[in-house]
Amino acid sequence: MIATESVIQETKAAAADKSLISPRFYVTDYKKMNALRFDHMAEAFKAMHKRFADDPNKHFFKRDDDPDFEQDFSHLPPSFKDFLIRGCLGEFSGALLYKEIADRIEDPILSDTYRLMARDEGRHSGFIRLAMRDIKADLDLQMLQGEKEFVSMHPKIILYTTYLSEVIGYFRYINIYSHLEAHPEYRYHPIFKYFGGWCQDELKHGDFIGLQLEAQKNLYLSGGVNRTLIRFFSLAVYVTMWLRDLKAQDFYASIGMNWREYDLKVIRETNAYAQRVFGLRLDVDNPKFIRILDRMAARYTEMNRREDEGAGKLALLPMQAAMAADYLRLFAMKVRTDAPPPIPEYPVAPVIKGFASQSKGQPAMA
Ligand SMILES: [Fe+2]
Ligand SMILES: [Fe+2]
Repeated sequence: MIATESVIQETKAAAADKSLISPRFYVTDYKKMNALRFDHMAEAFKAMHKRFADDPNKHFFKRDDDPDFEQDFSHLPPSFKDFLIRGCLGEFSGALLYKEIADRIEDPILSDTYRLMARDEGRHSGFIRLAMRDIKADLDLQMLQGEKEFVSMHPKIILYTTYLSEVIGYFRYINIYSHLEAHPEYRYHPIFKYFGGWCQDELKHGDFIGLQLEAQKNLYLSGGVNRTLIRFFSLAVYVTMWLRDLKAQDFYASIGMNWREYDLKVIRETNAYAQRVFGLRLDVDNPKFIRILDRMAARYTEMNRREDEGAGKLALLPMQAAMAADYLRLFAMKVRTDAPPPIPEYPVAPVIKGFASQSKGQPAMA
């Protein structure tokens, strides 16, 4: 396909977005990665590989036989497009990273599991891209790959952050799905019906990366330095989502959700789930933790407002410093190692094609 001018512009804008909260592309140090040993848990990795190869979602991401896609989507809110663009970039950056690891990691079982994980992310980003075309938007992913900056990180950090982003991805998709199952009047595009099965891929990805961390228990999970890094990156993932969703609150309002309640729930559930691997969790239910998050949100809103009014970098500096101080206050809070709160049981429901869209036409606009 030859990219149109608007696709090129959209892609360039996505590539130029270098803010803290934009998705990036990552690479890692393969020499270090290949020095790791996984053979002592070979049986567990074989079972995990089987879970990927069995692929219960093989026929899931097909929209040809779903008449719900045969609608006029021209009335959808602009925030839906931003939601799709961010989702597509996140999925695509995962596909690139996992494909590269698959090509360069020496362990054959791990390599093939990474290849299958890249396949999953590729079909996720492809599925989102089709939805973007429904609303006359598109990104040129090949071009984006050439334009976007790649960031190299230690394998340990790649494992912490991809583990967290897969688990948080699962809870993000399943919570939107559950909400729209209960309130189908807000389901203004059929892509949301697919989140229930989609998120199973993300949970499987999280479990595979979690298994790699468990295989490196002594190197990557125990000791003061590792625990400090885990706390730092867990907080970074939560705060990044918090500020990004604050900015995207119109989208959540358009599907009848309150972004703040949604984020707090997703953070709680991710935090409790990740304790199985990390052996600790942040004290996210502590009222002080939530109070500081709310203060950061207020400061971020104010900072964006001043920026929109044309405030220079220098004028924004005190607010940035105040936010950094808030981040450090959250980071300094004691972690918890007692039993985590229970995570809700989410049913896995199949997509019923051509049946579930009960949207009443115009979505609620924020
Ligand atoms: Fe994905
Ligand atoms: Fe994933």
